[in-house]
Amino acid sequence: MAEDLQILEGNKEEQYQSLIPQIKGLLEGETDEIANLANIAAALKEQFGWLWVGFYMVKDGQLVLGPFQGPVACTRIQLGRGVCGTSWKEARTLIVPDVEKFPGHIACSSLSKSEIVVPLFRNGEVIGVLDVDSSELDQFNETDRRFLEEIVTLLH
Ligand code: SME
Repeated sequence: MAEDLQILEGNKEEQYQSLIPQIKGLLEGETDEIANLANIAAALKEQFGWLWVGFYMVKDGQLVLGPFQGPVACTRIQLGRGVCGTSWKEARTLIVPDVEKFPGHIACSSLSKSEIVVPLFRNGEVIGVLDVDSSELDQFNETDRRFLEEIVTLLH
């Protein structure tokens, strides 16, 4: 696969539909988890321009910062803490339209205004989360949930 991403302008659904086959191409034949997480974070950041896109992976009972694109971030998150730790604990996607209204939100960047966190599953267990932050309020909806949940299944 060519290493240049084709960036599509259009509505969100069209952008995801253009991006997903390209992500599949990037992952094809590559089994290294870090390489694949890194390319997914980069592809999402490049297409959508969000403030922060990255992964926290479960290690020794904590979420530990993995490959990401964006400003430096906190490295460890406990189960049930913040949006990421809550998504992990509840094993479900969380959409937060206004992070200031989410009790216990962990502000890695004061620029972050809204957030979506999608768990990664392996054998029914949460093994990590995809975290996306926007510098604008209310940036994530059911379209993001649907496509981001699809994208993380490509990691298997
Ligand atoms: N805001 C997240 C922490 C991670 S940073 O946004 C990159 C949270 O509340 O879990």
